[in-house]
Amino acid sequence: MFWHDHVRLRRGWLSVFHEFMTLSVHNFSSRVWFGLLTLAPILILPVLVLLAPPDGNERAQLLQFFGRFHVLAIHLPIALLAMAPVLELAGRSRHFPYLLPSAGFLLGVATCGAIVAAVLGWCLARSGGYSGPLVTQHMWGGVAVAFAAWLCWVFRARSSESHLDPVYAIALLATVGLVSFTGYRGGQVSQGENHLTEHMPAQLRPLLGLPASEISETISSNGGPATFYAAHIQPVFTGHCVGCHGRAKHRANLRLYSYNAVMRGSKHGPVIKAGDPKGSKLFHRVTLPPTDDDFMPAQNKPPLSPNEVKLIELWISAGASGTQLADSVKDLPSDAAPLTAVAEVNFEQFDPVAIAKQRAGLALIVAQLQQRFPGALDYESRGSADLVINACLLGSKFGDNDLAALAPLSEHIVVADFSGTAITSSSSSALSAMKRLRSLRLMHTKITDATVQALAPLSQLESLNLFDTPATPAALTAIGHLPKLRHLYVHETKISPDAPMSEAMKEKIIF
Ligand code: HEC
Repeated sequence: MFWHDHVRLRRGWLSVFHEFMTLSVHNFSSRVWFGLLTLAPILILPVLVLLAPPDGNERAQLLQFFGRFHVLAIHLPIALLAMAPVLELAGRSRHFPYLLPSAGFLLGVATCGAIVAAVLGWCLARSGGYSGPLVTQHMWGGVAVAFAAWLCWVFRARSSESHLDPVYAIALLATVGLVSFTGYRGGQVSQGENHLTEHMPAQLRPLLGLPASEISETISSNGGPATFYAAHIQPVFTGHCVGCHGRAKHRANLRLYSYNAVMRGSKHGPVIKAGDPKGSKLFHRVTLPPTDDDFMPAQNKPPLSPNEVKLIELWISAGASGTQLADSVKDLPSDAAPLTAVAEVNFEQFDPVAIAKQRAGLALIVAQLQQRFPGALDYESRGSADLVINACLLGSKFGDNDLAALAPLSEHIVVADFSGTAITSSSSSALSAMKRLRSLRLMHTKITDATVQALAPLSQLESLNLFDTPATPAALTAIGHLPKLRHLYVHETKISPDAPMSEAMKEKIIF
């Protein structure tokens, strides 16, 4: 075995080369054989990386099967290469001289381990979902580590018990440095670019020149904290999705680390359809039953909370904008006061036949109105015949006549958003006919107290948004008694905190 070959070991790698050049194959020592057999795959590795680089495309299952062992396999060479300098130093001390001869063996095993780990790493990267500079650097790092370990093994022959060869010592230290760099890049690929600093205590962060918290960093790359997307949507993706849909690791070629990346979509195309949550693949995936194979986040990761799902729904319904300001949307679901509508984004089982029956009577008129108001009218969920109208998407093109056209569906509409439309108080009676409304938004419209007063029969109403309307305190009396009303938004109206109102109303009103 090669490690018995003390004489040649001392003669150094030049002698190995000499031996290789002058002897016939039969006379090769085991050391030369080992050197050649390990060098061959090391030279093949860069060819693999160059000819078949990771491109993100999914490939044969078998590659994935082997590739998954990469993370397991890397620990052996990492540990052994870190141990080599320790053995060289400790072996030269009085106490542990017996350690010294084992360093060469250790480097031989480390070289084999590094080769195996690099090949498995290539399998993993090639199996799909990986590409980009982090992955490339990690791969070349891995190839370099295998070669560096081999060089250390060769150079070690120049050292002896009494003499530590400087070239060998430098090679060893450089290899340890290379292992650290490659390992760090690997961590970035699998756990995110900032995996080491993400949970760093706030006091330490400034020492490294980092912003006080990760949140501010995420926000600044998403158009500033003021946008709805940066404040409410990106944090959901960052918290639940970027582990698999990040910059370097991007399953299905889908990246969810920034607004632009999200809107770019996956290898199958867009995953967000502005204005249409139910038609958006991303929304569909997070609202499947968690046991479904297609459910996201995958691999039994904890599902999004109902409020997070609701935020995504709101954002897509409102046009999936990257610039809409956060404070233009007021009645957000929060964990402190979830809206009932939130709880009804449901995962429950339903009976498709019963639903089809309930919908049958409406189907024709719903289909007509869906054509007239594209993207604005839909069923509340797959398991319901109740309707949601999102006229805010149509803006000022939507007026009193359009609202009147919804009359045949009045009793089925449970959530309505007329924000920013051209409706006026002439629509009062049409609104009061929507007897099952739970949530009504009239932000930025011209509706007056007369309309608010007309809402008195809406006994199911839980949330009413009058933000930026001409409403005055006189409107409050008519809706004060609504049994289910829990949130009334009156910011930028004539209703001020010192307006006279009942104690009960004070609890519901939000300025
Ligand atoms: C544990 C890894 C993992 C996590 C976490 C994860 N995904 Fe995925 N995702 C995958 C894999 C793997 C695929 C490709 C296979 C498939 O389509 O199911 C995928 C596919 C998708 C697709 C389909 C893309 C297409 O067009 O085929 C969407 C949409 C998606 N994920 C959204 C999300 C969202 C949103 C989150 C966070 C809430 C998330 N994923 C979290 C692994 C993950």
